[in-house]
Amino acid sequence: MVEARITVNGEETPLAPAAPHTTVLDFLRERGLTGTKEGCAEGECGACSVLVARPGVDAPTDWVAVNACLVPAASLDGQEIVTSEGLATAGAPGTPPTLHPVQEEMAVRGGSQCGYCTPGFVCSMAAEYYRPGRRPHPETDGGNGSDHAEHAEHGPNGFDLHALSGNLCRCTGYRPIRDAAFAVGTPTDEDPLARRRELAPPAPVATRYARGDAEFVRAQTLPETLRLLRERPDAVVVAGSTDWGVEVNIRSRRAGCVVAVDRLPELRDLRVGPDHVEIGAALTLTEIERRLDGEVPLLAALFPQFASRLIRNGATLGGNLGTGSPIGDSPPALLALDASVVLADADGEREVPLSAYFTGYRQSVRRPGELIRAVRVPLPLARVTAFHKIAKRRFDDISSVAVAFALDVEDGIVRTARIGLGGVAATPIRALATEAALEGRPWTAGTVEAAAAVLREEGTPMDDHRASAAYRSAMLGQSLLKLYARTTEAVSS
Ligand code: FES
Ligand code: FES
Repeated sequence: MVEARITVNGEETPLAPAAPHTTVLDFLRERGLTGTKEGCAEGECGACSVLVARPGVDAPTDWVAVNACLVPAASLDGQEIVTSEGLATAGAPGTPPTLHPVQEEMAVRGGSQCGYCTPGFVCSMAAEYYRPGRRPHPETDGGNGSDHAEHAEHGPNGFDLHALSGNLCRCTGYRPIRDAAFAVGTPTDEDPLARRRELAPPAPVATRYARGDAEFVRAQTLPETLRLLRERPDAVVVAGSTDWGVEVNIRSRRAGCVVAVDRLPELRDLRVGPDHVEIGAALTLTEIERRLDGEVPLLAALFPQFASRLIRNGATLGGNLGTGSPIGDSPPALLALDASVVLADADGEREVPLSAYFTGYRQSVRRPGELIRAVRVPLPLARVTAFHKIAKRRFDDISSVAVAFALDVEDGIVRTARIGLGGVAATPIRALATEAALEGRPWTAGTVEAAAAVLREEGTPMDDHRASAAYRSAMLGQSLLKLYARTTEAVSS
């Protein structure tokens, strides 16, 4: 097998002697690329943001910003990355490099003080600068003179501020950073990174990177991967590594074998059929969001509230369901959508309704050696949907409670109701008693108030550092009242 290597700022760089668990962040810093910083080592600050060339949604290649602190360097064997150092163009000998347009805007608009966060900000900003779908909206004023959230989050240059939702700055204040983001232009035809988008990204390469008693493996096909998982049921399966990376950094966990599944074609398909939408388990949330483009409104409501853009660029539905966390954001939405998971192992596949998938705290019916291949969302979709995430911050936070609704209301009667809840039990659950209190009844204030009282009693919410049990319970009821208020506003307006 060819020696593992990563192309960093145009230069092929051998992976050795890095350990299989070494993150991209440590790999870069150990090679002197210290622009990439460590702030939190758990995906919350964005100081470590770098650009990776990935299969594009609107162009052959997208420059995608990811948290280098979470991604194992071995997972980028054969891939290309660009750091803040690589954004600037080297000048003639003895002259300083020319700043990249996003670096220039950050500098001239006072977007940097201590500078610790700046390299991460410019990488996230550069990913948005190069996003092929970004189009100027001259009528948008970037929130100046308008409170409209849509205006506040998009610049007249089409810059989507969600691109920076995973980047924290402790000293500058965000207004100059927003000013810089909303001032960047469009890449010129000579821009090398813009031109790079027109070519295919590097193909995934088979990797077996071993050091001591640990190895990182990327097989090229699904059957090979499933055989490997049968031989090594102890293996840790990663896609974006947004969860495992935290375990490695913060809890010092190590695995004898880590198996990457994020580039397997069978796990990266998205198909809208007559009966269901099938979403590959290893598509990133950003890819799903862009490829569905609002086709499943409940998922469209979920995605902006799921962590940050940096995390969504790595996180997958397979990972969010695979960890079995009771506070994962996608399970409530998928439960409300009546979704099922397609599980694959070396003997074949089986489909399990998501409502029967979770069996206990971080436990599921998934057997050792089994992989989540896809998620299926049945069609037609319910017409009244909403995703309410109650958390201390609007973006990039862990939910105290999450509630997803999918209701069909016909002739004023609730025909079907599906409600998914997170954060109120050891597993994500369906609010079955509330669903029964709604179905077959008129969609009126009286029905909703009675059902909200039932919803407040669903699950077994606990007191913890995020919220009290009483608060969680109150928020459940409020969510239904809010949904009702929204639907009646829509009808009367
Ligand atoms: Fe904070 Fe990576 S160091 S997100
Ligand atoms: Fe200091 Fe952002 S400029 S943390």
